[in-house]
Amino acid sequence: MIEIQNVTKRYGSVYALRDVSLTVEKGTVLGLLGQNGAGKTTLLNILTGYLAPTSGRALLDGHDSLLEPEEAKRHLGYLPEQPPLYDEMTVQEYLAFAAELKGVKKSSIPAHIDEVMELCGLGAMRGRLLSHLSKGYRQRAGFAQALCGDPDILVLDEPTVGLDPKQITEIRGLIRTLGKGRTILFSSHILSEVQQLCDHVVILHEGAVKTAMALGEENDPDEITLQATVAAAEKSIVSRLRQLDGVRRVTVLPTAHSDQTMAQITFYKQPEPERRLFSLLSSLSIPLLELSRVQDSLEQVFLKAISDTM
Ligand SMILES: Nc1ncnc2c1ncn2[C@@H]1O[C@H](COP(=O)(O)OP(=O)(O)OP(=O)(O)O)[C@@H](O)[C@H]1O
Ligand SMILES: [Mg+2]
Repeated sequence: MIEIQNVTKRYGSVYALRDVSLTVEKGTVLGLLGQNGAGKTTLLNILTGYLAPTSGRALLDGHDSLLEPEEAKRHLGYLPEQPPLYDEMTVQEYLAFAAELKGVKKSSIPAHIDEVMELCGLGAMRGRLLSHLSKGYRQRAGFAQALCGDPDILVLDEPTVGLDPKQITEIRGLIRTLGKGRTILFSSHILSEVQQLCDHVVILHEGAVKTAMALGEENDPDEITLQATVAAAEKSIVSRLRQLDGVRRVTVLPTAHSDQTMAQITFYKQPEPERRLFSLLSSLSIPLLELSRVQDSLEQVFLKAISDTM
């Protein structure tokens, strides 16, 4: 379990974090979203004991990361924003070193790092010097380092940054697999990534928590919502919309005109739900006055969180 309690970090007159509190329950995956400079890396560095807060504290499995670093870090794997890679080491040497630091028994290290390299798709690079790796493979080596010792808390600072699309898919799959039974906190700029992988999301903006919420049904990536205004009274159109093929739900929005209806129509995901709406309306000879796709709700939540003034 991860607990961050009233953490503030100040650099001179700049507040990198303002009174941030959050909890990640055991076995959950929490996504930390925020724009550049929002304070994500600062928060993760404080959580993992690499940086002291100005006030407040961070606990890993009940241990203060600053006052009891050994106990706190015993079950922690951390992928920092810039993983500390020792350029003169090979991938294999580096991971053996990381495993030893994590307290993996000497005799188990070769099998353990084989497993970690396999998970991160690093097998073919095992003998390669870290300084000779491409950016994406350096990120994988950093990820592999975080997995050494099989930690039950994983803290990942933008784990998919710098990876190609195939690697991104693989690393996301890995996070999803690892998330079962472990506690994971990762930062990201990518809303869809957070939506795919997380149970909970926290949005940081200018160092403060703006939103903390569970991701549930309301953010189902398998649906598309259209917002339409039509020149017909509510009673003559809404039941027809609900019967339309592929429609999951219809929500009527208030309008100023009794002869018009504004509604959000949510379809099960399909290529062009607009076509179904057009053909229904034309069969009923009802004019369409306005039509748009409603952005998915996490995007709306995010845009709202970062547009609020402090
Ligand atoms: N050592 C430092 N001295 C002064 N200010 C700092 C220092 N480190 C970070 N900051 C400031 O703290 C704020 C938060 O930075 P942080 O790196 O945590 O943001 P971030 O959310 O990780 O951003 P990014 O998405 O770009 O990685 C920024 O305004 C940054 O300029
Ligand atoms: Mg950062």
